[in-house]
Amino acid sequence: MDFKLTEEHLMIRNAARDFAQNELLPGVIERDEKQIFPAEQIKKMGELGFMGMMVSPEYGGSGLDTISYVLAMEEISKVDASASVVMSVNNSLVCWGLQTFGSEEQKQKYLPRLASGQIIGAFCLSEPEAGSDATSQKTTAIDKGDHYLVNGTKNWITNGNTAEFYIVIAQTDTEKRHKGINALILEKGMPGFEIGPKEQKMGIRGSDTHSLMFNDVKVPKENRIGEDGFGFKFAMKTLAGGRIGIASQALGIASGAYELALKYSKERKAFGTEICNHQAIAFKLADMAVEIEAARHLCMKAAWDKDNHNNYDLSGAMAKLYASKVAMDTTVEAVQIHGGNGYVREYHVERMMRDAKITQIYEGTSEIQKIVISRSILSE
Ligand code: CAA
Repeated sequence: MDFKLTEEHLMIRNAARDFAQNELLPGVIERDEKQIFPAEQIKKMGELGFMGMMVSPEYGGSGLDTISYVLAMEEISKVDASASVVMSVNNSLVCWGLQTFGSEEQKQKYLPRLASGQIIGAFCLSEPEAGSDATSQKTTAIDKGDHYLVNGTKNWITNGNTAEFYIVIAQTDTEKRHKGINALILEKGMPGFEIGPKEQKMGIRGSDTHSLMFNDVKVPKENRIGEDGFGFKFAMKTLAGGRIGIASQALGIASGAYELALKYSKERKAFGTEICNHQAIAFKLADMAVEIEAARHLCMKAAWDKDNHNNYDLSGAMAKLYASKVAMDTTVEAVQIHGGNGYVREYHVERMMRDAKITQIYEGTSEIQKIVISRSILSE
């Protein structure tokens, strides 16, 4: 077993770290406060290859492995989880799904622009009554011969207004339940496609989350991804990889908060010494360090499974479940170590605590990860 990163991996991690420190850190507090989308920064991330990291160079991507993606996600998330969710959705849910299951024409048409950050994508599965229970899709895509007629509503869509490209999961044949679901490509501006108001969120406030409404949207048949009825499997397979991205986001939020708490504890004095010299603080730091390292190993194992063509449903769900808990626990403790300063914006950790919560909710709640994990271990 080799835990050593390659030279290329180290280069990618350093490039992501430099970008996060130089381009994302300035302005991150203001973007959070005013809910400003990091448009300029996302464009630069596209130019640097972070928006289509695993897309083959044939389609304009960086052609990197999942380990590289985890490393870059951790570094970006340490500083700005709003930018990293945009990156994660674009890489895992949009580019990977399209590259793996899309037609040659679809890949040629969209991947080069998605991978270079010229456009960004959205993945639209959740509905008012179908978040965790993903088979209960109410959005319909009725087969009209040469096109589908799409009607319904999607909720909590990341990149909802900033995307140009939307993968929409919809029910074509209700009697066939999940086997009657399709994944369709919709483009912004299609007649009948409306974007609802921006959600006012607790965390990841720089990212852009909206409801989408479809009212008799005519979608050409060639916009379907895969065979008729493949949409649910497409969503499940794509989400399995997406969970590695969100696990890495959670890891980054945790390690970012830990690094700030460590630094602060070496500077702040109380009772005549730096607070890190008090066991009450030192033990918190020890727990954080162990939990973050364990989360990193789970993320890397899931990425390694994916890169080696092993099944990664279980390792990805384990990484997401554990890393998101570590993100929540670590950020709460980071605020505690900062004391009163932890409660004010300029010290960053209160934002990280708010950002951490969503990692236990999106791309499958912690409860959903436990369903995936328990089913997997019970079927062995
Ligand atoms: N790969 C391939 N196929 C899979 C699969 C996987 N990982 N998981 C399930 N399937 C298949 C099953 O094999 C089954 O197919 P067959 O009937 O042909 O055997 C079919 O899908 C249905 O599976 P289940 O019977 O297991 O379905 P279920 O209704 O019991 O639900 C679930 C399974 C795991 C709970 C699923 O509904 C789920 O993952 N829910 C959570 C959805 C989710 O993650 N939503 C997040 C939205 S996206 C988002 O958050 C993005 C963002 O903004 C950042």
